[in-house]
Amino acid sequence: MTTTRLIIALDFPAADLAFRFVRQLSPDTCKLKVGFELFVAAGPAFVGKLVDLGFDVFLDLKFHDIPNTVAAACKTASHLGVWMMNVHALGGEKMLEAAANSIQSVEKPPLLIAVTILTSMDEQQLSGIGINEEPRNQVLKLAEMTKNNGLDGVVCSAQEANMLNTHLGNEFQLVTPGIRPTNSEKGDQSRVMTPLDAIKSGASYLVVGRPITQANEPLSVIEGINNEIVLATQ
Ligand code: C5P
Repeated sequence: MTTTRLIIALDFPAADLAFRFVRQLSPDTCKLKVGFELFVAAGPAFVGKLVDLGFDVFLDLKFHDIPNTVAAACKTASHLGVWMMNVHALGGEKMLEAAANSIQSVEKPPLLIAVTILTSMDEQQLSGIGINEEPRNQVLKLAEMTKNNGLDGVVCSAQEANMLNTHLGNEFQLVTPGIRPTNSEKGDQSRVMTPLDAIKSGASYLVVGRPITQANEPLSVIEGINNEIVLATQ
């Protein structure tokens, strides 16, 4: 595992496009996230190729099903050699426990984290699915449940990092999307934070997609973010 705390979201529609981008990157300066779009297009073989190139890969497939099915999917995914993968905490305690147990016998188990409440869900959306609770309270409840069932951390908004750090401690990994380097476009992310502020708030890893993948000079954006991360930890 490399020490970089920057995870680039490889949101590309095809393996060749993703690979053309990856060729210029180094595992020393970034980790890579493969989500639905690229996984559906390129499959497990492409994930294996990234692992073989030395990258720490976060397989962002957000499994959410009955405990037995999620446990089997986690075990199979762990054989790809990924560094991190995730499930939905809303799958419930039994599902989280089964997922965590399923990878215990793997030789080098990936970090297993959970999505709590998607940042696209506001109070009104939550109420629409029968959860009458403020999103922050619900996030904390699900993150506590995630920790109690032996998982390593959660995906969360950087705005929630401070609260989760205080309640769950530094060892619990907080992976935060919605990061925008100073002076970059927000895109469709509404609540954003700079790399510096996110790390200062307690984020363990930063997920950044378009500000890097659509930049004219991705390597200089990566360098800038890594510099901000160093600055935040000094
Ligand atoms: O391009 P951008 O930096 O907005 O990409 C953020 C990445 O993080 C995307 O892959 C998106 O799916 C993911 N993500 C997110 N918000 C969440 C969970 C995941 O933006 N709550």
